Amino acid sequence: MNLLNTVRDRFATALSGMVTDVAPLLEMIRPAQDAKFGDFQANFAMPLAKQLGKPPREIAQMAIDRLQISDLCEPAEIAGPGFINLRLRDEFIARRISQTAGDDRLGVLPVSAPRNVVVDFSGPNVAKPMHVGHLRSTVIGDAICKTLRFAGHHVTGDNHIGDWGTQFGMIIYGYRHLRDDAAFADNSVGELARLYKLVNTLSDYQNTVTKLPGLEETAATLRTQLTEQEVATGTDEKAKKQLGAVRKQLAAAHDAVKTAGETISSVESNPVLLKLSQSHPGIARLARDETVKLHAGDAENNRLWNEFLPECLEALNRIYQRLGIEFDLELGESYYNPMLADVVASLKIKSLARESAGATCVFIEGNAAPFIVQKTDGAFTYATTDLATIQYRCDTLKAAEILYVVDKRQSEHFQQLFATATLWGMTNARFQHVAFGTVMGKDGKPYKTRSGDTVGLESLIDEALSRARRIVDENDDRREMPMLSSDERATVAEIVGIGGIKYADLHHSRDSDYIFDWDKMLATTGDTATYMQYAYARICGIFRKLDIERNTLTSGGSTILLMTPEERRLALQLLMFETSIDGLLQDYRPHVLTSWLFETADAFSKFYDRCSVQDAESKELRHSRLILCDLMARALRTGLALLGIQVAEVM
Ligand code: ARG
Repeated sequence: MNLLNTVRDRFATALSGMVTDVAPLLEMIRPAQDAKFGDFQANFAMPLAKQLGKPPREIAQMAIDRLQISDLCEPAEIAGPGFINLRLRDEFIARRISQTAGDDRLGVLPVSAPRNVVVDFSGPNVAKPMHVGHLRSTVIGDAICKTLRFAGHHVTGDNHIGDWGTQFGMIIYGYRHLRDDAAFADNSVGELARLYKLVNTLSDYQNTVTKLPGLEETAATLRTQLTEQEVATGTDEKAKKQLGAVRKQLAAAHDAVKTAGETISSVESNPVLLKLSQSHPGIARLARDETVKLHAGDAENNRLWNEFLPECLEALNRIYQRLGIEFDLELGESYYNPMLADVVASLKIKSLARESAGATCVFIEGNAAPFIVQKTDGAFTYATTDLATIQYRCDTLKAAEILYVVDKRQSEHFQQLFATATLWGMTNARFQHVAFGTVMGKDGKPYKTRSGDTVGLESLIDEALSRARRIVDENDDRREMPMLSSDERATVAEIVGIGGIKYADLHHSRDSDYIFDWDKMLATTGDTATYMQYAYARICGIFRKLDIERNTLTSGGSTILLMTPEERRLALQLLMFETSIDGLLQDYRPHVLTSWLFETADAFSKFYDRCSVQDAESKELRHSRLILCDLMARALRTGLALLGIQVAEVM
């Protein structure tokens, strides 16, 4: 039962005769922030009073008079200027929580109208090493898939692997002209990654050298402009404002020159790189030619692609395995290659796409940039592939909803994609870009290694496991009698390390950037997976100590007694599980569930401090408290599992 929605539904009925649009008012009914305001608070009286031209307290009273909720709540109270405070009846909570105790799904009913949802997540580009940015898509996407599935929807998690993009041209060029045979024999994927990086560096360098004079000229022009304006401005406020704008532009131009200078000197200070650049002039174009040949069906380039791809995929799969991630479908970009020409033809027939400066583009009203579906050289684009993919998902997978769990920097692409797909006729499905921010280092810049490289996932996982192992060792060594063998410690370290990485990512609001911090991530107290995992193990320990078989607990009846405010709060928190799941799914925000987990764990720790289980005043109370403990453990296990995080009975 979704408690919040139940309360909102009752208000919807009460308000329906008073006002036409109740939805925005219902949004203003929320769980109360502070227990002294009850359990739920409705704050719509003030805006509604404005609409109806009556005092807010009178409006609140009118709403209460029409509200039928006495089966759930104590009589409603009006506070301050017109807040409506609701407190659930203790008998209601006790009855509900007793029912929940005997339910595997912790009271969550499967949805009555399941949807076909395709979740596009992870999508790394093969041969470029998978980095910490892909982790976000992978972890958030997996949590969304699992939660949708738990709610009862039909989910297809699809890994849209970048296996056909321009990076292959770079790799093929690098392989032909720059490869280190011994390194390739030893670790082909590692060598391909090095070649990709090398070609990329050289082409970046050469482009920057070409671009630098232009950048310097822009800066010089702005500087002159600024000097002239400074002389002319005087005290005119408007002119002063303009001056500020020019100063900003100048600062940006200086930055661009500085960055370009750094790119150039990083190569020129390295004689080996410099020499390579001199012997491979125009490397960007040469690499692009290889991509064009690959896409045009060139036999030799396709042979190389077929040779490289399986090993690259294997390297990716190793990471997925360590992270415990599975997909229902893995159709990479290459899968759609045969369909691309038809996509463009169809867009043209429907007069959606037209030629512009040699390229074929879709122009969407309100969007400055065109959506290019075929470039001047005939090449199809990321956009063309995404259109073919949408068609496949709508027609073959019968998707009712497609979610793209992708970096927010691609939001313009998705806006254009969705608009084009809709005009193209894909109107049965709903599309959403589930965007996320950047992983930052403690210096406030995108998270990099000390040498300035993006952080590879493999090494990130290694580090998480070794840090987790230290924590597990310390914890077990502190015991009078350590409980874990070395193998068990390794297993627990894996659960803690991987869980820590995932939770740290999920508990931030997904569209904001977040700072990657090992110490916070694996802290044993606070809003971390480690804290929840230890809480889970502690509860298992209680049952072990008392020698009680947990799965027989509710067979002797599951009457819950709420004797203290702490028991009441814990029970109510546990009843809010479905509300938090629905809250996550409303806009695909996993942190709604982590917040619930954290608040529930907090309620449990206060309950456990205050309420003795073993020495409870009566047998009935002891039994009731044991059931709450068991329910709490199951809530932790189930909630964490939806986020892709495991638990261990002994840690
Ligand atoms: N390969 C892309 C990248 O790394 C992400 C793919 C996202 N999915 C999509 N259908 N465009 O940026």
